[in-house]
Amino acid sequence: MEAPTLFGAHTVAPDTTSLSAYCPLPGVGLLPVNAFVIHAAEPILVDTGLMALREPFLAALHSAIDPAAIRWIWISHMDADHIGNIEEVMALAPQAKVVTTFLGLGKMMLRGLDIWRVHLLEPGEVIDAGDRRLVPLKPVCYDAPETMGFFDTRTRVLFAADAFGTPLQAPQQVAAAIPEAELFDGMATWASLDMPALGMCDRAAMSRLLAAVDRLDPSAIVSAHLPVARDMTGRLLRVFDRVLDSGRIAAPDYETLAGLAGPCALAA
Ligand SMILES: [Fe+2]
Ligand SMILES: [Fe+2]
Repeated sequence: MEAPTLFGAHTVAPDTTSLSAYCPLPGVGLLPVNAFVIHAAEPILVDTGLMALREPFLAALHSAIDPAAIRWIWISHMDADHIGNIEEVMALAPQAKVVTTFLGLGKMMLRGLDIWRVHLLEPGEVIDAGDRRLVPLKPVCYDAPETMGFFDTRTRVLFAADAFGTPLQAPQQVAAAIPEAELFDGMATWASLDMPALGMCDRAAMSRLLAAVDRLDPSAIVSAHLPVARDMTGRLLRVFDRVLDSGRIAAPDYETLAGLAGPCALAA
C-alpha cells in the first residue's frame, strides 16, 4: 500500500460502525485511521477521517448512516487525522453539535471553524444520547491536551482516541488477530512516535490507570489507530504495560542536556 486507503464501513461492536482507513508510514508500517458511527437514538459520529480520503470517507459515512440524522460530532482531538473532513460533515449534518473541550474550541476558532456549533464539554458533564450516556474519559495516554475519549454506557464500548495505536504490517479486521510480537512492536513504535512523554511517566500512576480500565471491563476498546479490540482488554493492557517498561519510548535526552549545562550538572 503506497497511499492512504479507505477500507469502508463495518460493524465492530453493537451499534458501532467503524469507518476504517490505513495510512502507510514509510519504514514503519500501516497505521489504522478509524472514525466511528454510533447508532444511538441521537446518532453520533466520532472523528471525521483523513482529508486525503475525503470522497471515499463521505461515501462510507453515507453507507453507514444518513448524515442528516447525526446529532453529535464527537471530536476526540484536533489533530489532522481526526478532523480531516470536519467542515464537510458539519455541512452534511446541520443539526449536529460538535462536542469538544475548551482547548478544542480554541483550536477550532484558530482554524476558522464555526464555533457556534460547539457543545462545550464542561468538567463532569455526561452527554445524553437518548438511549445511552457518553461518559467523557481522558484516555490512558494522548498527544493533544484537548483529547477526550468516552465510555458508551449501553454497549460498554470504550473510545480511546489515539491510545493503544499500533502500526501493522498488514491490515487486520480485529486486534485479536495481531500476533503478540507485532502488537508489542507496533505499540512501542507508536508510543515512541506519538507520545514520547510516556518514556518518563510515573509507572505506579500508569499501573493504577491501566488497572482502572481493566476493572471497567469494557466490551470492546476502539482506538483511532488499532483494529477493534473485542474481549481482549486484559491482553491489550498487559502488552501496553510491557511497552512502558521496554525502554523503547524515547524520553527527553537528559544526558545531552546535562552535558551541555556543564560537567557538574550530571552529578547534581
Ligand atoms: Fe493525535
Ligand atoms: Fe491520531
